[in-house]
Amino acid sequence: MRVLGIETSCDETAVAVVEAPPGDAPVGRILANVVYSQLTEHRRFGGVVPEIAARAHLERIDGLVAEALAESDLELGDLDGIAATGGPGLIGGVMVGVMTAKAMAFAREKPFLAINHLEGHALSVRLTEPVMFPYLLLLVSGGHCQLLTVRGPGDFTRLGTTIDDAVGECFDKTAKLLGLGSPGGPAVEQAAKGGDEKRFALPRPMWRKPGCDFSFSGLKTAVRQTVEKLPGDDARAVTDLCASFQRTVADVLVDRCSNALTMSPNDTLVVAGGVAANLYLRGRLEGLGVRLVAPPVTLCTDNGAMIAWAGIERLRLGMTDGLDFAPRPRWPLETARVMAT
Ligand code: KG4
Ligand code: ZN
Repeated sequence: MRVLGIETSCDETAVAVVEAPPGDAPVGRILANVVYSQLTEHRRFGGVVPEIAARAHLERIDGLVAEALAESDLELGDLDGIAATGGPGLIGGVMVGVMTAKAMAFAREKPFLAINHLEGHALSVRLTEPVMFPYLLLLVSGGHCQLLTVRGPGDFTRLGTTIDDAVGECFDKTAKLLGLGSPGGPAVEQAAKGGDEKRFALPRPMWRKPGCDFSFSGLKTAVRQTVEKLPGDDARAVTDLCASFQRTVADVLVDRCSNALTMSPNDTLVVAGGVAANLYLRGRLEGLGVRLVAPPVTLCTDNGAMIAWAGIERLRLGMTDGLDFAPRPRWPLETARVMAT
């Protein structure tokens, strides 16, 4: 079974081809995985501009599809299905990916699969690791921060979510305040190396509170206030602040996961989404005493392979979508089951 996957929900134009046998077993083979990152297009605006993103996706998508097919030595006719992120995300970009996938599916009479971007992250670990359902998932990205029980494609129970900002956004904001560039997460992780993680006492919102919800806006404000008072003549200040920030975030995430494991006991904790690329965070989560599994670092941030893999998981179950599927700017994961059937 071979599925081509397209991801265009934010500022990466990504296409991949993934292969897996029929059935329901984890682990597939990536035949091609190409990503064009729009970093330079958006840099001078200090953030992602939706209109520019949509146009950049449109300019690149055909070339990337051709590249992915050439790299996997396949033609469109050899595919068993075509998947694209159907939401949530910047709607102009989602439309580009969905229309491209639908056109190919229609022309070659192939099944079309509309993938919830969060489901792409949620199932991505099974592309490379032998993880069986159900598992507990910490989904941490630039737009989301959630704890979920994952029982299968379209079958999720949300245990907690952020009541304000996403954790990746908090990393990005911190990097911006410190002039570390973008994307912020990897820059903060790099800068934190060798820093004193106890030097700055930052607030840990929701820490030791009941339940599994998150909050990061107070931490964001505290970082801004700390940066404003940072001594200019202290070369270690940025390193120490990054280390302290990272430790604070990890304290909160570990605490929330610990509550989730009590609420919904499981021997496997999966961490996925862009922030899961953070090795310090992975190390801290390992301390929880359950089996921690994460996708390889390169498959944590947005990519086409996770969309192709989710497409395979759905295609195996016959969960295909009609060509009348409408791209969705918002699409909560928990309704994925209702929507798909
Ligand atoms: O999953 P993703 O690529 O896009 C969304 O769906 O949002 O996640 C992007 C987020 C950004 O906020 C980025 O700064 C963060 O993931 N990120 C990291 C690291 N690599 C990416 N955060 C912390 N440490 C990292 N190494
Ligand atoms: Zn993402």
